[in-house]
Amino acid sequence: MTDRQSIKVGVVGSGKGSNFVAIAEAASRNEIPADVVLVLSDVPDAGILNHARKRGIEARYIPPGKFRTRLDEASEELYIQALRQAGVELVVLAGFMRIIKGAFLRAFPRRILNIHPSLLPAFPGLQAWRQAWEHGVKFTGCTVHFVDEGMDTGPIIGQRVVPVMSGDTPESLHERIQVAERELYPAVVARIAFGTIACEGRRTFDPTQRA
Ligand code: GRF
Repeated sequence: MTDRQSIKVGVVGSGKGSNFVAIAEAASRNEIPADVVLVLSDVPDAGILNHARKRGIEARYIPPGKFRTRLDEASEELYIQALRQAGVELVVLAGFMRIIKGAFLRAFPRRILNIHPSLLPAFPGLQAWRQAWEHGVKFTGCTVHFVDEGMDTGPIIGQRVVPVMSGDTPESLHERIQVAERELYPAVVARIAFGTIACEGRRTFDPTQRA
């Protein structure tokens, strides 16, 4: 794989960064034709920033501004600028705890992915694994979707099913869902990078035809 074929990925997260690590490692093993060029976080000491720095990937904390659940306008502009300056073609949200709104979506139309720890449309919102456990479902899982204006509502790209075991606690269920996430997210990014899923501004083509 040459650099010319790689899709430039920017990862945005608030937490420990296990999904970022899974994607970055798959890319460095050349399983995905992608370069993670930038990691951004709204949390100054988020694990995701440390994981990125350890791998030599540019990592920046950008303060979120005055709101609790979203970025304020000035902050949003800084996120957009940073991603654009790094040449990011695909934005991967990995545990980003804020809702992405208008200007950000317009800057990267159908180029922002999110992973959610349930089989959407079931259990959107916070602590989806706990919601599933409390509801008593027998199967749950994780979903990767394009981000739109709603909360966890965008077009679904990929899902993995995780059975709920009789002895599960919300925590043990969450752990198994996260294992599934670390398989699913790199696989979906690979499909986009190979062009088998249409992503705005990126040609869809047969990966076997690549030089
Ligand atoms: C994941 O469980 C994801 O489903 C949710 O946030 C968590 C992020 O974990 N959106 P990590 O920071 O990637 O380890």
